[in-house]
Amino acid sequence: MESLELKEINKTFGSQTNLVHALKDVNFSAQSGQLTLILGPSGSGKSTLLTILGGLQRPTSGDVSINGKNINRLTSKEADNFRLNHIGFVLQSYNLVPYLTVAEQFALVNKVKRSGNLDQTVFDSYLDRLGITQLLAKYPGELSGGQTQRVAIARALYTNPDFILADEPTAALDSHRVDEVGQLFKDIAVQEDKAVVVVTHDLRLKNYADKIYQLVDGQINISEL
Ligand SMILES: Nc1ncnc2c1ncn2[C@@H]1O[C@H](COP(=O)(O)OP(=O)(O)O)[C@@H](O)[C@H]1O
Ligand SMILES: [Mg+2]
Repeated sequence: MESLELKEINKTFGSQTNLVHALKDVNFSAQSGQLTLILGPSGSGKSTLLTILGGLQRPTSGDVSINGKNINRLTSKEADNFRLNHIGFVLQSYNLVPYLTVAEQFALVNKVKRSGNLDQTVFDSYLDRLGITQLLAKYPGELSGGQTQRVAIARALYTNPDFILADEPTAALDSHRVDEVGQLFKDIAVQEDKAVVVVTHDLRLKNYADKIYQLVDGQINISEL
């Protein structure tokens, strides 16, 4: 069983009159086999929480553990390797390479991570469910916001990560696509036994969640389904 855990996490930015207390004593856990949703309004600390959870930034205090092991003890090289091999990020900025086609974005992943990526048949079925099969020859500049978002989701899934961490992955999608993406994340959690964590203000994803947290002004609480 794979797990990600935050214990008593605090994160502050700035100092004195500019001090922002973005996360306050946050306790959180996500397990494989489940889609865990963190709901919160803009500015509540969602992106800060997700990037700390995935080791992209460090907390001011508190512990992050993966499968019970504290990641503060990893060197930055070990942390980079762990992220590459185990975590799939869908970030708000998408980070597609502008001069590569959609197909080439995925081929690039093969150069960075040479093994353990999804079989073509499985990946093709995800592309189909995300409705992007017909976009493989296009460049990012030719895609709509929703198409870009779905390509970024596919790229995160391609490395077959144990943990999928997604930041507002449905913000640019219409309701029909939200249902496709919600169901795909849910199926990947349950059928592939992955831990999927989605931070969002999109209440349309509630139907697919196994566990829901609410984040308000940096404070987290578990919530009813
Ligand atoms: N790098 C940063 N420097 C200063 N303040 C930041 C930084 N990142 C986030 N914040 C602040 O922390 C709070 C939470 O931000 P964020 O995690 O981006 O919220 P959300 O993703 O829920 O909109 C906000 O007040 C934001 O302005
Ligand atoms: Mg955010």
